[in-house]
Amino acid sequence: MIEKKVPLREIYVWQLPVRIFHWVNAGCIFFLIITGLLIAYPPAILQSEGAQQLGYWFAYLRFTHYTLGVILIVNFLVRIYWMFAGNKFARWNNYIPLTKKQWRGIYETLKVDIFLLSPKPIYDIGHNSLAAVTYGGLFMMLIVQAITGLCLWSPTAEVVGAESFESLAFSLGGLMVVKQIHYYMMWMFILFMIIHIYLVFYHDYIERTGIASSIIGGWKFIEEPVAKEYEQELAKENIITQEKEIIKELEKEAKKEEKTQSS
Ligand code: HEM
Repeated sequence: MIEKKVPLREIYVWQLPVRIFHWVNAGCIFFLIITGLLIAYPPAILQSEGAQQLGYWFAYLRFTHYTLGVILIVNFLVRIYWMFAGNKFARWNNYIPLTKKQWRGIYETLKVDIFLLSPKPIYDIGHNSLAAVTYGGLFMMLIVQAITGLCLWSPTAEVVGAESFESLAFSLGGLMVVKQIHYYMMWMFILFMIIHIYLVFYHDYIERTGIASSIIGGWKFIEEPVAKEYEQELAKENIITQEKEIIKELEKEAKKEEKTQSS
């Protein structure tokens, strides 16, 4: 048996709102796919003579699908708020590759995950850059799926604002077009789920940082040199924000002085 003795540090990475978002989102997507597939391909029994005995079965199914859709949207809106209020690992800028460091991270992770060119894992404390970009993509998919879903619901929905989604459906080319987008997007979600779950466990295996359980408890086990680098980065950021605050204070005081001198 090969044993690896490296000093590790526990770091609290995923805050509670991120973890709640993750599991509510995963649960909603899973059951939206099941109910969506049943709506798209109703079981043959519904066309049989005994179908009447099933009562409002199909109506309940559609109601469940709509309700899950609404929960998904509310959950996502809370997560958007947390992208601005949460810690460094939850923030919006993780999901858009704006820096050189992120692009390098994407390239290095592609080498490990897809091209199998490097057996060496890359240690990130939060999301690795490639994972973060795919989550950004998933967030875009959520927006498209939510809008097309609301459009499909709009003709029968008795809620405020339904008419605007009806006219949006019309301008997108009609309900049939919207239905197609909604349907094909569902397959993109299925693809995402398969790849995402595979990669989480693959990274758990190669990195040994407890990544899979981290989305339940929030903690990851990070090698000491990586943790130290992170600490230094945080210290730098703190110094910069402190300096910015001092400059703001000085500017305020200078303005006050200017006012008193002129009056
Ligand atoms: C329907 C299924 C799933 C969906 C749609 C999904 C979606 C997501 C999303 C959107 C994120 C980013 C969260 C954020 O930054 O707010 C994420 C992260 C994560 N998910 Fe999932 N997830 C699913 C299932 C799972 C499962 C079964 C596991 C197994 C443990 C898992 C483990 C993780 C982990 C560890 C992270 C954070 C680490 C990383 O950056 O990859 N997910 N997931």
